Amino acid sequence: MSLMLNELQNKASSRIAAAQTLAQIEEVRLDLFGKKGELTNLMKSLSAMSDEERRTTGAALNQMRDHLRVSLDNKKEQLETIALNERLQKERLDLSLSPRPEMEGKIHPISQTIDELIAIFGEMGFAYAEGPDIEEDFHNFEALNIPPEHPARQSHDTFYFNESVTGRKLLRTHTSPVQIRTMLDQKPPIKIIAPGRTFRCDDDATHSPNFHQIEGLVIDKNIHMGHLQSCLLDFCRAFFQEDKLSLRFRPSFFPFTEPSAEVDIQCQKNKGSLKIGVGTDWLEILGCGMVHPKVLQNVGIDPEIYQGFAFGMGIERITMLKYNIPDLRNFYDSDARWLRHYGFSPVLLPTITGGLSS
Ligand code: PHE
Repeated sequence: MSLMLNELQNKASSRIAAAQTLAQIEEVRLDLFGKKGELTNLMKSLSAMSDEERRTTGAALNQMRDHLRVSLDNKKEQLETIALNERLQKERLDLSLSPRPEMEGKIHPISQTIDELIAIFGEMGFAYAEGPDIEEDFHNFEALNIPPEHPARQSHDTFYFNESVTGRKLLRTHTSPVQIRTMLDQKPPIKIIAPGRTFRCDDDATHSPNFHQIEGLVIDKNIHMGHLQSCLLDFCRAFFQEDKLSLRFRPSFFPFTEPSAEVDIQCQKNKGSLKIGVGTDWLEILGCGMVHPKVLQNVGIDPEIYQGFAFGMGIERITMLKYNIPDLRNFYDSDARWLRHYGFSPVLLPTITGGLSS
């Protein structure tokens, strides 16, 4: 009997040692301890033995059973550890991988310029105003003293919507309707800027059907052209970061200002390169003037008591000049390479004290 037990133990021990998988270990366990397992059967046979035989065989069987259970458990644990390590290796996440550079966003130069404009004019005491892109004839033209025969009203300039019961709507052709909306809404003194989208049926190398302007409006008592000049001079020097930059005011015409002027900045043109704030050349950047008395009357402000000035500037143009961007059309191409090159950090916001651009 003990020979047979020895043989059984040796055979089971070598099967346990040879097992490579948890399934093989389970198979050995069932062969020994299952309902019809070899050890289970031997245990059952004890009842048919004599007392004497049962005592010696029983003790040997118990010892063997304990021994094999421990070996099975140890082997199982060993195989589980191996399996876990394999999984950990296979499913490893490399958390040290840094973000890919193209995931870093950039601020579009138009947004950057608008933020700079808000910072500069904000410092000068201007409030921020806005109006809708879809306008009525009244705000865009009529109240601004633009008569029906004015060329700006003709369809080659203006995008009109289909006529409706409520009147013909249009895409605003300039930010000047925000002047009207603000004056209808607020009592003087008024001091606002209004940057935003504007639209005209124009499409070539220097014109886009969708572009941006910034409007400025100041209404108060005793406002004169000197205020307009110093305001624009301070602005241009701050924006172009040129302390000695000069401006040139040329007489011009706008239906909603009288007198009106176009403003040029001082620059030096040299074989295709351009330096702003020095030299003897001039570049036009904006239109302005004293608010026409008829416009004030149109919004219920008495021109005998209040006067004011207004200006309007193309945002693309001053952005191209300041940041040396050669082609207007690239602003709207959504080309990530262009934005990576000309864009700005989303973290460093322009401020007067902290610097306008990084
Ligand atoms: N609205 C004018 C334009 O688009 C610019 C302007 C604004 C001129 C305010 C004078 C005063 O050309």
